[in-house]
Amino acid sequence: MAQSAPQSGRLAGKSAVITGAANGIGRATAERFAAEGALLVLNDRDAVALDAVVAALAATGAKVLASAGDVADEAAVRRMMDMAVQAHGGIDILVANAGVIPEADLSSITVDLWDRTMAVNGRGMMLCCKYAAAPMVARGKGAIVCTSSISAVIGQLGQVAYGPSKFIASGLTAHLAVELAPKGVRINAVAPGTIDTPAVRAMDPAGIATSVARHPLGRIGKPEEVAAAILFLASDEASFITGVVLPVDGGFLAQ
Ligand SMILES: NC(=O)c1ccc[n+]([C@@H]2O[C@H](COP(=O)([O-])OP(=O)(O)OC[C@H]3O[C@@H](n4cnc5c(N)ncnc54)[C@H](O)[C@@H]3O)[C@@H](O)[C@H]2O)c1
Repeated sequence: MAQSAPQSGRLAGKSAVITGAANGIGRATAERFAAEGALLVLNDRDAVALDAVVAALAATGAKVLASAGDVADEAAVRRMMDMAVQAHGGIDILVANAGVIPEADLSSITVDLWDRTMAVNGRGMMLCCKYAAAPMVARGKGAIVCTSSISAVIGQLGQVAYGPSKFIASGLTAHLAVELAPKGVRINAVAPGTIDTPAVRAMDPAGIATSVARHPLGRIGKPEEVAAAILFLASDEASFITGVVLPVDGGFLAQ
């Protein structure tokens, strides 16, 4: 996939950190960023899958390093950001993408599931922003893209923990945009509709069929389509855009 990705050198020489890069949207973003010339530090909690992605990208000539770990773990987040600064001279772009998509309604939600979801999707996203923003602010420039969701805009069945956890991604985007703008750092988010990733394939097939019908374009999205939006928001072409949550949803939220 990396060899056939569109490329134009839009990120030539830029240092980027991407979390949750071993699968799905994060992996597609890593492949697109590599094709665009970025210098990458990729994170995932699945070290084996992450190493496979890094090896495949390195084989195409990409400059890419792995930093395995859990984004909910402050020390692991510091390590990945330190690695990018030391190896690539700073951080130009953070894609805070790692997340879990648990299914639970009010009767089945447990304290453990709630806490784990918030630890990864909430605390993890905050920690990645915190430790990437520091070196960005030191250089007076940088761009952050968070992966939010349409579930941070509308209510859906079975998302008692997931939906609220994605409000954190959108909330951080708005509040940090105001805090970081005077320091030269932009932060935006994408809000994907249903995207064909391993996380979604693991769900109930009946739910995916329902999802297809609810997207006006008549299909679910591809990870590459979200990666293209992330690339735009991370690139200098979005230089006057900060604090937005961009739907990448086949028209879902237009209804
Ligand atoms: N697929 C969709 O339909 C969809 C829709 C809206 C938003 N999203 C968001 O997009 C992001 C990626 O989702 P995806 O569908 O590609 O999922 P995925 O499960 O296919 O890939 C996610 C990757 O993140 C990694 N990960 C999970 N928890 C982690 C942690 N604590 N630390 C480090 N890595 C971790 C996983 O190992 C996996 O490789 C998530 O934030 C998700 O909420 C997905």
